[in-house]
Amino acid sequence: MSELRHIPLTRHIGSQLEIGRDALLSGEYAADIRRVLVERGVVVIRGAHIDDQQLRTVARSLGDLRLGLSKRGADGATLNEGDEGVLKVSLDPEINPQYARFLPGNHLWHMDGPYEEIPPFATLFTPYRMANTGGDTMFASTYAAFEDLPEDEKDFLSTLRVVHTMPAALFASMRDVTPAEFAVWHSYPQRIHPLVWHHKSGHKSLVIGAAAAWIDGMHPAESHDLLERLTRHATQDKYVYRHKWKAGDLAIWDNTGAMHRVLAFDLASKREYHRATLNGEEPITAVTKDFALQP
Ligand code: OGA
Ligand code: MN
Repeated sequence: MSELRHIPLTRHIGSQLEIGRDALLSGEYAADIRRVLVERGVVVIRGAHIDDQQLRTVARSLGDLRLGLSKRGADGATLNEGDEGVLKVSLDPEINPQYARFLPGNHLWHMDGPYEEIPPFATLFTPYRMANTGGDTMFASTYAAFEDLPEDEKDFLSTLRVVHTMPAALFASMRDVTPAEFAVWHSYPQRIHPLVWHHKSGHKSLVIGAAAAWIDGMHPAESHDLLERLTRHATQDKYVYRHKWKAGDLAIWDNTGAMHRVLAFDLASKREYHRATLNGEEPITAVTKDFALQP
């Protein structure tokens, strides 16, 4: 088997994979794709043109495809992964009645599933109906952003923990939220994670994004400023890849080392993407060994 070729799209994040559809579907290159994915944060395959069943096939070759429709997981978090693992990502309630009112949060920098004990490993994403205007997806490397910080700041940040909440993830993206909707968001479980993730691979990344509501134990204003500063740092152009979609693209992001967001788009175009999610494979582990996580 020959080495899978990939072409870096920016210095820190994103690679285009040179792989044909048959090779992709065969699963033969799954280990290579995973390696490039984790190394580069996002991989893009142009001209894949895969349908839902093929999306499931590729997903299963790469990891543990998340199934289930609006199920409450054991930890109380709602999992909504659509039809046998393929979710229709659309802001149109006719296309996705259950989820459309949760998806505006996709416009803010985020990672998927921060409320879960073990957040998803990766997401596969392919256009079904593209926006007429806007709707590019941006990705930011939280590995590179952490790596570039001064050593003393890395040490300090490594002592902190962050509370992730649904209201934080959604509120800034919606102007018309009703009190009843807010109450639902508020009823979701919160999750506390270390701010700095020490991955099994040895790499470290920042665990931030819109859902990161506050830093445990810190004054609210200081916590607000710190999270805002880290988000700005991590989303500078040098850490970002902006994907302009073409029909047939398949993008896969490493949800453990990258944040992402969709840029504003024309709602009338009924933008719809199909998404498969791979379950997480490791909990967010703190850098310091004696750093005891409270439930
Ligand atoms: C998502 C998401 C971005 C997009 O589905 O989790 O963030 O471009 N999507 O729609
Ligand atoms: Mn997302």
